[in-house]
Amino acid sequence: MGVTLSRLDRRRALIVCAWASLCANILLVVTGGAVRLTDSGLGCPTWPRCTNGDLTPRAELNVHSAIEFSNRMLTFVLTAVAIATLLAAWRTAHRWLAVWLLLGIPAQAVVGGISVLTKLNPWVVSIHLVASMAIIGLAVLLLWRVYGGGPGADRGPVAWLGWANFVVAWLVLYAGTVVTGAGPHAGDSTSQRNGLSVLQFAQLHADLVCLFIGLTIGLVVLSYALKAPAASVRAGWILLGVELAQGAIGWVQYFTHVPIVLVMFHMLGAALISAAVTWVLLRVRAGVPDDERQPAAA
Ligand code: HEM
Repeated sequence: MGVTLSRLDRRRALIVCAWASLCANILLVVTGGAVRLTDSGLGCPTWPRCTNGDLTPRAELNVHSAIEFSNRMLTFVLTAVAIATLLAAWRTAHRWLAVWLLLGIPAQAVVGGISVLTKLNPWVVSIHLVASMAIIGLAVLLLWRVYGGGPGADRGPVAWLGWANFVVAWLVLYAGTVVTGAGPHAGDSTSQRNGLSVLQFAQLHADLVCLFIGLTIGLVVLSYALKAPAASVRAGWILLGVELAQGAIGWVQYFTHVPIVLVMFHMLGAALISAAVTWVLLRVRAGVPDDERQPAAA
């Protein structure tokens, strides 16, 4: 009895930690966005120290250094959550996923550091955001596994559409970072841009979004037609809802010259898309859960 209870507690702790990991990583995308959008990217002009002489911005404290330094400090919160997740997962089959989540933090710290040392080179900043999106996907995979989801081996048309949605979502995410690299929000008023046309790449980004929305509608319709499990249909609808909201924000921000608040919501939306599309893929690949299987006809 005692053993069973402690196993249950460990599972609960792991669920809480996995959710905390997902939320903390999403939060970091938004706070990282605040750094860029308030031109605070070089608020701490060097790395890993904030200024040449000090780990903190004490000597050269201003709004930008405070914002950039606070974002760096959030890394410690994320580290605490990742360590707690690893401890909770240690004696389970999910240990390696928790290890990868933890390793993502120093990897991101290094990419963030290179961003600062290259004076916010837009291609490096883009990798920084894309890596965060991948870590969010990893946190979703952990949650999926912790809730009992298996690796999944469904090869049906809905599963293929799940893959198509996943691949196009990543093209959309990456194209978005290229638009940002061409646009006005560099992270610091002196930073270089990537030299590409905002107009052309925003068009490409939006075209890919149309393809993405079409694929998700296809996934939902096919799920109904092929009587896919209710959970797959629900996941498809949620993804479609997030996409439409995100697409609307994208259009409005484009036509209103990318106001800071809307861009922050757009970054939050991008993080939610990464989470939702990963969940959809895992869900549709899992096929029909045992408790929804029809009994074979006698
Ligand atoms: C599913 C829908 C969408 C997703 C997942 C998405 C994702 C992204 C991402 C990841 C970024 C980069 C953020 C950054 O680097 O900080 C971005 C930027 C951008 N997106 Fe989207 N986007 C979507 C829809 C749209 C649409 C429909 C438009 C309309 C043209 C749009 C316009 C823009 C613009 C103008 C930027 C640059 C913002 C800036 O300069 O800071 N997006 N998007």
